[in-house]
Parts: sequence; structure tokens; C-alpha cells
Amino acid sequence: MSVKHFLDLDGIPAAELRDILTDSARMKADLKAGKGTEPRLAGKTLAMLFEKASTRTRVSFEVAMKQLGGMTVVLRQEEMQLKRGETMADTAKVLSRYVDAIMIRTGPAQKLADLAKFGSVPVINGLTDTGHPCQVMADILTFEEHRGPITGKSVAWIGDANNVCISWVHAAAKFGFELRIAAPGALAPKPDLLDWAKQHGATVRVTTEPRAAVAGVDLVTTDTWVSMGQEVANRNYLLAPYSVDQALMACAKPEAVFLHCLPAHRGEEVTEEVIDGPQSLVWDEAENRLHVQKGILAWCLA
Ligand code: CP
Ligand code: NVA
Repeated sequence: MSVKHFLDLDGIPAAELRDILTDSARMKADLKAGKGTEPRLAGKTLAMLFEKASTRTRVSFEVAMKQLGGMTVVLRQEEMQLKRGETMADTAKVLSRYVDAIMIRTGPAQKLADLAKFGSVPVINGLTDTGHPCQVMADILTFEEHRGPITGKSVAWIGDANNVCISWVHAAAKFGFELRIAAPGALAPKPDLLDWAKQHGATVRVTTEPRAAVAGVDLVTTDTWVSMGQEVANRNYLLAPYSVDQALMACAKPEAVFLHCLPAHRGEEVTEEVIDGPQSLVWDEAENRLHVQKGILAWCLA
């Protein structure tokens, strides 16, 4: 059987993504019912390679692996021979001799691709500059727990059309919802991504007007104005009109929910009133990273 990598949502069949969410929800329900988690990954080890900071991804994967009966090894790039020039290809070959799967958080998607190409174990994308697929899977589970199937619903992404936004575009095609992106021209989605969406039957609309994007939607989401690795580029002046505040939320359906992958910057991409208000599901969303990591790990490894 071929190795099952969880690289980006565009490369995974929709039915398998749905199965991962169903399995994640089932494991969550079992845990909440006090039944614990079946040790489906007993004896397996996940290496987690971090080239960028993380709170949620690191802790949720580590706890997920342990609840499934497995083990983890946390690797920080600055403490590895990668730092001294060893290639990702050689690192992949070596790690594959020790562990059963590798999760990586990095910048260039090429590093993720190299790990998958040169290693022989499943590779999971824990965020690159062009995707955050585990996050958007958790976001969809969160929405569906509160508002039912996402298929046929509408989602507004406000602000920088970054890595998380790219995974939302992939998800729009895989799960069949409408995605409206409001971003300043310089930070809008790239034409090749929009071409991909079109070719895959996704409804993705792009505007520079936040209110037009949010009008009547079921879900409003946003992310930091400065993603990791972009700290030198001060883009706040471009993004100031894209702050999600109560007036913008009022343009969505009254029952619309607000999501944010976190970490959040109150007073920038979202106001305190919204992220700490009644429409916000951000803590459930953060919790669901754990449950969905379990579904992803089991899909790759069980
Ligand atoms: N949302 C998310 O991936 O958070 P961390 O950067 O803390 O992992
Ligand atoms: N877009 C953000 C997401 C962090 C979880 C970043 O890349 O820094």
C-alpha cells in the first residue's frame, strides 16, 4: 500500500477528508463520554520537526499521539544538523529509519515535498507558507458541531489571503461550500490558486470589500496580519480596513459564527468584542485541533 501523506487538502480525496472528520468526531465523543481512546497507534512514534514557533500544533499532536498509545519526538530545526546544512532529503531518509511518521512545520512547501519524496513514512503538514490543512479540518469540525453540514453554506475570509486561506480554498472544493475572500489587492489569492478552484468546481469569489464578502454568510474567519516569516513586512496599513469588528459581523447571518486559528491580535485582525463575544467559537476550534490530529494520525498510520 502506498504511503498516506497529509500534505495539503487539494491532494486528498474529499471522501477521505470526510472520513477523517467522522473518525475525529467519534474519538472526541468517546473521550467526552469517559471511554478514553483506543490505542490504535500503540508502539508507533511521530517525529515533529519545527522550523517555526507553535503552541497548539505542537501540544495537540503530542497529546493526540499519546492518547492513541504512541510516542513523539520533538525536533527543533536549530538543534539539528539541518541547521548546519544537512539536506531535508538526507534528514527524511534517516528519520524514516527511526519513526513511523513525521509532522513538519516549515516555510517553503518544497521542504514538505522533499520530506515526503525522500522519506518512506507518512508526512503531515503542520503549516507551511502555503497551507495549514490540519487547522482547516479542525475549523470545519467546529463549524459542523454548531451549525450542521458545511456543504452548501457560505464562508467569508477577511484579510491576508495567507496559508490558512489557501487551505480554505482547497476545502471549498472538497466540502462544497461557497468561499468569499476579502483582501487588499496586494495580498489577494494568487491566480493559479483561483484557477485550481475553478477547475475543481469550487465557488470562490474575491473582493476588496469586507462587507460584500460577509453579507449573509454562515461563518466569518480571519488570521493574523503578519504570518511567521513575514515579520519584516509591515502590512498593517494595507490591512487596517479588514479588521473583523461587530459592525462587520452584523452583515453576516444573525446565527453566523466566528473562527480564528489563533494566535490572535486583538485590535488588529479582530476586535476583542468579536473574538471574546457570543459568536466566537475559537476555544472549541483550538480544542478540536486535538481531536482532528487524532483522526489525521489514524488515517496516516492505523
Ligand atoms: N493555529 C495554530 O497552528 O497555532 P500554533 O501556531 O500555536 O500551532
Ligand atoms: N498564518 C499564520 C498562522 C499561524 C498558526 C502564520 O503562518 O504565522
